[in-house]
Amino acid sequence: MEPATFVLFGATGDLAKRKIYPALFQLFVDQKLPSSFSLIGLGRRELSHETFRSNVEQSLITFSRSEVKDADVVKKFLRAFRYHVLDVDRKEDYTKLLQVIEEREEELNITPNRMFYLSVGPEFFETIAANIHESGLGSANGWKRLVIEKPFGHDLVSARKLNHKLNQAFDEAEIYRIDHYLGKPMVQQMGQLLHSALSEQDLRTRDIASIQISANETLGVEERAGYYDHAGAIRDMFQNHMLQLLMMLTIELPNRSAVEEVGKLKRKVMKTLKPLNKMDVSHHIVRGQYGAGEIKGGQVVGYTDEPGIALESQNDTFIAARLQVNDPFWKDTPIYIRTGKRLKEKVTRIVIEYKSRGPLKDLLIVEIGPNEGIFFQRSQSGQERSDIEMPVRSQLSFTKEGGKDAYETLIHDALIGDKTYFAHWDEVELSWEWVQPILDAYRENLTPLHIYPAGSYGPHEADELLERDGFHWWFDF
Ligand code: BG6
Repeated sequence: MEPATFVLFGATGDLAKRKIYPALFQLFVDQKLPSSFSLIGLGRRELSHETFRSNVEQSLITFSRSEVKDADVVKKFLRAFRYHVLDVDRKEDYTKLLQVIEEREEELNITPNRMFYLSVGPEFFETIAANIHESGLGSANGWKRLVIEKPFGHDLVSARKLNHKLNQAFDEAEIYRIDHYLGKPMVQQMGQLLHSALSEQDLRTRDIASIQISANETLGVEERAGYYDHAGAIRDMFQNHMLQLLMMLTIELPNRSAVEEVGKLKRKVMKTLKPLNKMDVSHHIVRGQYGAGEIKGGQVVGYTDEPGIALESQNDTFIAARLQVNDPFWKDTPIYIRTGKRLKEKVTRIVIEYKSRGPLKDLLIVEIGPNEGIFFQRSQSGQERSDIEMPVRSQLSFTKEGGKDAYETLIHDALIGDKTYFAHWDEVELSWEWVQPILDAYRENLTPLHIYPAGSYGPHEADELLERDGFHWWFDF
């Protein structure tokens, strides 16, 4: 692997501590980092290199999935870490940064390959990218890459504007947009697993009656009121993670050819997604917000009583949608998606329901998290499931990469320059295009906001969305 310098903006932030350092450490333990690797952490606060390293060590102790036992290994890993103070708005700080990076590159005798990871709020993306460009940080003899995290824009117009600005500093080929759902082992191996599952069960894919994709969370807004109250479930989860799951699933079925490029295929899916009109959004979309309720035996407050949230907030914490892909294979198969906060359980799961004549339904279930696996299950249908015997699940296959954190895979891919599992601009733009009428309908209050009790599976209107077509959400026990 080529040597590289990892330039981390937001090095004292939460994402760095929880995800980036543990992922880098795991890559180090697995010998998947370049042999000449250096990390320059950037932040506004003054910190010595030593304090920075000991903060990183602390985050490994708290969040790493490998036990941090061997002090020597940690010490070796931390040798690559330096800290540098930077105010993202001050151009002279970037000039100083360039010097620091060049000195390190010289010291290590490495090619100036630089990965700029923006682990900061999206409001800083444009400024940082422009300053990297203007200061000459990116015009080295090696490669340069920009890694950013969602959200990529707030709506279609702002996403286009942001992208235009980024493109003044970086080519599309140099921009790595992280959607961590694309780094999940089950999502990456979905195609391979589905194909083996389908052939084992001798089920023909054209017999699919419906698909449902759920990402249910028990957490509420936590300390993220400032961000979340402007984003809502639609921007926080749906426009990105949920539509990515839909794309990954539908490009893999019925028979994807390995040589086709993922980005191109995803674009095709988004182009065949039947567009919504803001006037009939409420026919296809259910918008919800959690009220007070009980989760795992504990009382929790409703969304508008959360710290930092205005009492009159109309922000969505839940969305259920009915989608249709207009291509010859999928045109008769409704696809239902839902995601929400403060629901009964934490689970991300895809259920493929097969057509059947009798009361028994064949289901193919892809568990994406927290458990991972792909299962076949023959189940009795019906809403009154309390008196139904627990059906037998047979596990068809499971991923070899189980337990691996999405950030390990994605950071490694960015270091080796593999963009397969990053969000490409085309699909991001098409996702915003599809979502825009929903944003308009929400803004103009054309779609009612349904309050659901915390600890439930969302508003009952989300059940009715499926009942209209003769289906129900599976596994809402
Ligand atoms: C993030 C959202 O992108 O994904 C969070 O901002 C959400 O609000 C999280 O909780 C869910 O991710 P996972 O991997 O726990 O399903």
